[in-house]
Amino acid sequence: MKIIVTGGAGFIGGNFVHYMLAKHPSYRIICLDLLTYAGNMETLAPVVGHENFTFVKGDIADRAFIYQLFETEKPDIIVNFAAESHVDRSIEDPEIFLQTNVIGTSVLLDACKKYSIKRFHQVSTDEVYGDLPLDRLDLFFTEETPLHTSSPYSASKASADLLVQAYHRTFKLPVTISRCSNNYGSYHFPEKLIPLMIANALNDKKLPVYGTGDNVRDWLYVEDHCSAIDLIIHNGRIGEVYNVGGHNERTNLEVVKTIIRELGKDENLIQYVTDRPGHDRRYAIDPTKIKTELGWEPATLFDEGIKKTIKWYLDNKAWWERIISGEYQSYYEKMYADR
Ligand code: NAD
Ligand code: DAU
Repeated sequence: MKIIVTGGAGFIGGNFVHYMLAKHPSYRIICLDLLTYAGNMETLAPVVGHENFTFVKGDIADRAFIYQLFETEKPDIIVNFAAESHVDRSIEDPEIFLQTNVIGTSVLLDACKKYSIKRFHQVSTDEVYGDLPLDRLDLFFTEETPLHTSSPYSASKASADLLVQAYHRTFKLPVTISRCSNNYGSYHFPEKLIPLMIANALNDKKLPVYGTGDNVRDWLYVEDHCSAIDLIIHNGRIGEVYNVGGHNERTNLEVVKTIIRELGKDENLIQYVTDRPGHDRRYAIDPTKIKTELGWEPATLFDEGIKKTIKWYLDNKAWWERIISGEYQSYYEKMYADR
């Protein structure tokens, strides 16, 4: 089995590469990544040199390059993680989100069609469903929930999902889609809530909580997302969408306070800042379909996963300190200085 993992130098894709090489020692994994600001070869350092692993630098939206890669490698499966993934950046500069997330996905779909690939798996997000009210804890996103996006990021991911489904219906392309809730764990880029708060707290910097901190996210330990995708590409039904999440809902404030407590810091580090425009209130996944059809369940609950994650950031300071000492500083200044 030969799998092209796009975006494998990023957070979830990198974890997926590690997961698959360990779980399926006979599979060949080809990681294709453009190495944008979010891609990091240090995330792949543990597998560089592995006999079943190859890294290729390139853009999923570069049609000639993608066709050449498919022609040469003749992969069985494509798992598409490659994307611009940060909501705040999409509010600042939407265009690259359309280029990578929509055009890039369309190029991959065309390549899958041209080379009769056995499976194209699109890694999507629960953000395509929009948000849920904070006072209706009985409501969850199911696979039937209408798409209703809020940010340029989620609009680009929903557009990609529609294209994937169109290629299945019109061209009978063998596709699957997973829509996962917020991931956390190792190798998470420090622009996102959990790693940002860990890094800032360790450096005794202010912890910028948007708005009131009441927004709710449904946190999934990244290895549980990897195990879900592994099950879907092997046993999932063609043409189907699978929601992935494990009922680990927390308000942002609860998450930040947990990190403060685990690190022995003071809550006076919290600084309430101007809210994100269009800020989604609550995400919450109903994982019944993937549980009943594929037997998937998360192995790591939030209280354990957050401890493991904090330990990883303590044990791997070089990985994130190198990031936050680079161009990230001007990003941080731009996003947070006058907030
Ligand atoms: P990330 O930003 O950490 O990584 C994205 C990777 O894609 C990077 O390595 C980057 O270099 C690469 N990339 C970007 N543009 C590219 C291009 N044009 N060609 C090739 N590679 C390119 O993102 P992540 O958090 O790991 O998310 C991965 C996928 O999972 C995304 O599709 C995202 O929408 C989805 N997702 C993320 C979460 C989450 O909580 N992080 C949850 C659900 C779904
Ligand atoms: O739900 C899945 C999505 O989760 C993925 O599709 C996205 O790629 C991923 O980035 C993530 O999106 P969020 O917007 O939920 O993640 P983020 O870490 O940016 O923010 C989480 C919450 O924390 C959100 O309510 C905004 C808030 N926040 C975030 C940052 C960076 C803060 O309060 N302060 C911050 O500094």
